[in-house]
Amino acid sequence: MNDYRKFSEILCKSRHAVALTGAGISVESGIPDFRSKDGLWSRFDPGEYAYIESFRANPAKVWKMLSEMDSLFSRVQPNAAHAALSEFERLGLLKAVVTQNIDSLHQRAGSSNVIEFHGHFRSLHCDRCGNIRDRKDIELKALPPLCSCGGPLRPDIVFFGEGIPGDAYRRAFEESENCDLMLVIGTSAMVAPASMLPRVAKKAGARVLEVNPTASELSHSLTDLLIMEPAGKALGVILAIVREMRS
Ligand code: APR
Repeated sequence: MNDYRKFSEILCKSRHAVALTGAGISVESGIPDFRSKDGLWSRFDPGEYAYIESFRANPAKVWKMLSEMDSLFSRVQPNAAHAALSEFERLGLLKAVVTQNIDSLHQRAGSSNVIEFHGHFRSLHCDRCGNIRDRKDIELKALPPLCSCGGPLRPDIVFFGEGIPGDAYRRAFEESENCDLMLVIGTSAMVAPASMLPRVAKKAGARVLEVNPTASELSHSLTDLLIMEPAGKALGVILAIVREMRS
């Protein structure tokens, strides 16, 4: 229990806390992560589905994975972990959430300052002419969905081999340089440049607290406190302790 209390105390005393989240925070909502045993990459080889070159070579094939993700996103709800981060923001304890996730669950849980480092699925654009379409206006019947120009539409997510959206990149590094605390929730921290953010925060003097049932790339080298529990469970307990500390 003392780890929970210590985590909560550090959060309550922080001046500028930010969170970095990965696929693990959405697992309790029913969205598989990528690299765990039954993760997405165990069913779709990232070498064939996750690269922009793969999409351009065979958009219909990559849309088989994309449409599965899309229909999952439409069926799931935020979990207690998303809700806790949203409440920390409302309490003034959390200034920003940098997420690697494209599922929009942080916004649906009420977080307002969400920096989507790998984009999102709420809109698509044509890979040929750049025309942007709202996801709600597209029927995913024939795959790939086509633009009026005939080019294939693709979600506004970041494929491997593409750059991070400029505004998200700038804001994420700014938050990491200015924070005194980074909560790293549900990420293996294996993918750059997102995995650089905790290192930037640490270098700027911040403490790094992690929630992950298994150790990540950061846990033994950079993390000051690791709570090895599922995010929904852990952040629910921490929120209750924070509320008690502030009452
Ligand atoms: N609560 C917290 N963490 C969890 C939970 C849970 N319930 N379940 C799994 N995890 C942890 C796993 O132990 C793992 O460390 O979440 C992490 C998920 O790691 P990845 O599957 O590698 O996902 P992520 O770190 O978000 O991947 C980063 O890689 O494939 C690309 O673009 C994709 O954004 C993704 C990026």
